[in-house]
Formats: sequence, structure tokens, C-alpha cells
Amino acid sequence: MIESLTFDDLSEMSGKAADLVAELLGAALARTAGATLALAGGSTPRGLYQALARSHRDSVRWRDVHFLWGDERYVPAGSPDSNARMATETLLVPLEIAERAIHRVRTDLAGPDAARDYAATVRSVCAASGSAEPMPRIDLVLLGMGPDGHTASLFPGSAALAAEESVVFAEAPGLNPRVPRITMTLPLLNAARAVLFLVAGSEKLPIVREILSGGAQALRYPAARVKPEGRLVWFVHEPR
Ligand code: 6PG
Repeated sequence: MIESLTFDDLSEMSGKAADLVAELLGAALARTAGATLALAGGSTPRGLYQALARSHRDSVRWRDVHFLWGDERYVPAGSPDSNARMATETLLVPLEIAERAIHRVRTDLAGPDAARDYAATVRSVCAASGSAEPMPRIDLVLLGMGPDGHTASLFPGSAALAAEESVVFAEAPGLNPRVPRITMTLPLLNAARAVLFLVAGSEKLPIVREILSGGAQALRYPAARVKPEGRLVWFVHEPR
């Protein structure tokens, strides 16, 4: 069952999403010694990360949370296009997260090697928190959705949509930034214990509505194919 929450105020949406992230991480930490959180890229999560750093510094045992990324652009770590750079600035530095708990994609490696390396990282981080079945189970995955219905770096028509591995190297999409990507795949995303989508941008609303309606036609959008075994919640900004 898809849960969806709509907000006409983006900062309110970010705050409520931060509250749920904190709640879900707390539940994960009650269950095991370490929790795993996969961060979303793009720009929408910026407000959420700032809300977490501002309002939940003390309500989550951050020292026991391990940070992953659902996808990363194949750019140098310091690039303004780096998803890791945005999260570092808005969340990880403000919360003083230790480097040992931050698991960035190694974009210094050749593309396919970076994907294989990250798959191994995801497996070992999830195994340390007690869950690495055939497909590692991430406690909480944050995702956005692009104007074409892509999520992470799973774009419509991409070969990555059929991948059975947990992480793959994907060619540059037809959307900015037009650089290759390393992305978690549907089998890994759908093994997650919980997935939160955060979507803003009125041009995306028709796709969101179609996905939330649950019709088979919506499956042409990669975001519609994220149907985790665990909880799935969509936070949608819908200006009045
Ligand atoms: C990326 C993201 C991508 C993003 C969507 C939405 O690397 O760009 O993983 O999937 O979440 O494109 O981006 P915005 O939040 O900027 O609209």
C-alpha cells in the first residue's frame, strides 16, 4: 500500500519528512546496532537534510547510522554536480558525522569498477547492521523523482531497469547533468525496509498522480516500479 502526503508548503513538507526519517531511523536502531540510510540526490532533499540537521540532532543516535547514496553522478567528489557533496554540506557536516559512517561512491575508479566497488560497500555496510540476504536490506532509502519519472539514476528505457545486480554503472541520461551514473537498482531498492519519495515541481504532478493511482500504465515510469517489501511513503509538494 502506497502512503502519500501532499503539502502546499515545501518547508512544511521537508519538516514532516524529517520527522518521519527520524522515526524510522529510531525504529531501525531499536532493532539493530547500526542503521543504514541511503540518501537521495538532486535538489529537493536539500530542505529535508537541513531540517534533519536543525531539528533532529538529538532525536536520532546519529553515531550509529551509516550513510549511503541511491545514486551518484560520475563526477569528481568536489564537483557541484556531486550528490555526496550536497548531502555533506547540508547534513553530514552539520551533524558532525564521522567519516567511517559515510560511504561515498568511488567515482575515482573506472565506471564499472565504481559500481562493483559500491555494490560490495552496500553489502558490507548492510551486513554489519545485520542484513545482507541475497539482496542487502537497507533500512531507509530516500528517493526523488525527475520530470520523466526517473528515480535514482534509473531512467525510462534504461538497461539498468532490468539489472539483477544491486548497483550498476549507467550511461549518461538525456537529462542534466548529462554524465554517466552509478545507481542502485530496482532489486536493491525494493529490498529496502522503507522508502520515502520526496517530489517537488508542478511539472511532475501528473506523473505522481498516475503512479499513486496504481494503474499498470504507470509502470512505464521507473519511480512506479519502486515497490519495497517494507513501507513506501510519497511526500509531494503541490502548491495551491
Ligand atoms: C540525481 C537524483 C535524481 C533526482 C531527481 C529529482 O542524481 O539527480 O538521484 O533521481 O532525485 O532527478 O531531482 P530534483 O529533486 O532536483 O527535482
